[in-house]
Amino acid sequence: MLIHTIDLIQQVHKRGGAVVAFNTYNLELTRGIVVAAEQLQQPIILQLGVQSIKDYGEPLVAATVTAARVAQVPVALNLDHCFDLDMIEQCLAWGFSSALADGSRLPFADNVAFTRRAVALAARYNAAIEAELGYLAGTEDGITVAQKEASLTDPTRAREFIEQTGAALLAISIGNVHGYTSSPPSLDFERLAQVEAQVDVPLVLHGASGIGKEGIQHAIRMGIAKLNVNTEVRSAFVKAIAGWGVRVGPEPDLRQKDHDLLDLMQGASATACRVATQMIQMSTLLE
Ligand code: 13P
Repeated sequence: MLIHTIDLIQQVHKRGGAVVAFNTYNLELTRGIVVAAEQLQQPIILQLGVQSIKDYGEPLVAATVTAARVAQVPVALNLDHCFDLDMIEQCLAWGFSSALADGSRLPFADNVAFTRRAVALAARYNAAIEAELGYLAGTEDGITVAQKEASLTDPTRAREFIEQTGAALLAISIGNVHGYTSSPPSLDFERLAQVEAQVDVPLVLHGASGIGKEGIQHAIRMGIAKLNVNTEVRSAFVKAIAGWGVRVGPEPDLRQKDHDLLDLMQGASATACRVATQMIQMSTLLE
């Protein structure tokens, strides 16, 4: 069932857990993620990124909205990292209940001004704005930010930022990185505690891929309420397709068992489901 992002996060956070927000790109990936949530009876967030919306538009959004609506667990829809207010408005009109208005690479005052505009816009749709303070290193959807350009979230500024913008969620930068890293990034938990003490909106940790169970569970215990996962599920999905290609060879014979497009789609979807299951379990069964 389709549910508002904030309601969903509050329900899960009250129980001491975090909601996993999975980036998705197509129906097969979405289906794998939703089946994982249904099997575990856990709510999730599905999120789309700007590039896939530019590439596939309303049909992709409609498929994602429908997948959320018919799911047997609560599912919320979020637009990930967007700097374009028109696209944010379009997605809210299409049925998303939240969007990350990402002004994190702007100077503080400009980020405040941009986020305020997004919050005012979202209010017209009864939607919520996730904002970001601090700039993450790493790669997502082809955009790379070098480590030296990244900046960590300043706890005092985080308080000012939320007071001045009215954002409903805050994405923070505490050493987390988008995409894979050669070793798990070292998270600044002290900074997380300081930010948590300064703001009363739910905190979001981007770049959850590669952090590992211990780091993720520690971050959740310290106040992270939304955990963004993309690379781990996406790369498992792509590897499943690559493995299929190796198995069937360069000339698939659609009459043979396992050679058809349906086999390819089902295999990739089932692989995404397995990895999404691990991520949801990691974020909900705290040890
Ligand atoms: P990862 O690709 O590192 O999991 O990051 C996902 C993310 O933060 C989406 O915004």
